[in-house]
Amino acid sequence: MENQLKIPKHIAFIMDGNGRWASQRGLSRSEGHKQGAEALKRVVEACAERGIEVVSIYALSCENWAKRPQAEIKFLFSLITQTAKKELRQYAELGYRVRFSGDLTQLPKSTQNAIRKVFDASKNNTGMLVNIALNYGSRQEITRAVNKILQAGMREIDEQMLEDCLYTAGLPSLDLLVRSSGEKRLSNFMLWQCAYSELMFIDKYWPDFDKNTLTEILEEYSKRDRRFGGVK
Ligand code: FPP
Repeated sequence: MENQLKIPKHIAFIMDGNGRWASQRGLSRSEGHKQGAEALKRVVEACAERGIEVVSIYALSCENWAKRPQAEIKFLFSLITQTAKKELRQYAELGYRVRFSGDLTQLPKSTQNAIRKVFDASKNNTGMLVNIALNYGSRQEITRAVNKILQAGMREIDEQMLEDCLYTAGLPSLDLLVRSSGEKRLSNFMLWQCAYSELMFIDKYWPDFDKNTLTEILEEYSKRDRRFGGVK
């Protein structure tokens, strides 16, 4: 199986279950998120080893921000800022590109600075693209795209125009979307991009994801018969 694995060009992860992972162990939710950031490192490294071109990560939704206790959001921003300064910086040095999707203007200034530095340091690289969704919502992304088209003076749109105004413009289409923790929802993540993606819901909390989990995911993906609405 290992040498017959089909490798998606573009894979996306909804990292879910950090809080439940922590409470099962009597730990704080913050510790769950910290371990979630460690899992992210393992998974991104495994994706690079497999030759995946683009990894999209749902790090923080607009809804997370609005609906979670302020203390948790504060912790998440400090974790994201630290991760940007350390791990994402290393990605830039390894030749990966790091890009961010979402309404970044609302983020704390320290987070904005840290992510801008990583983006700038990696933008001329040619390796794997790590696309991190922060304060992201798919409906907001589509609405923003339509507004951009209207502002350009268009009165009618086609699919390509809309695609070109999404955060994912120019990226390979999304082949596979994976959500951890057993929940079977998309939670406003890449709704347009998911039109023909394979969907996988894994019964494991995000902090337990590692290299072997990615191998299992790729094994399952390799068995899927993608027809894009056609027949065999
Ligand atoms: C979902 O678990 C996870 C999050 C809302 C945040 C994940 C963010 C990180 C791990 C930071 C990573 C850093 C960068 C720069 C990408 P949950 O809290 O919804 O879990 P629960 O459903 O079990 O409560």
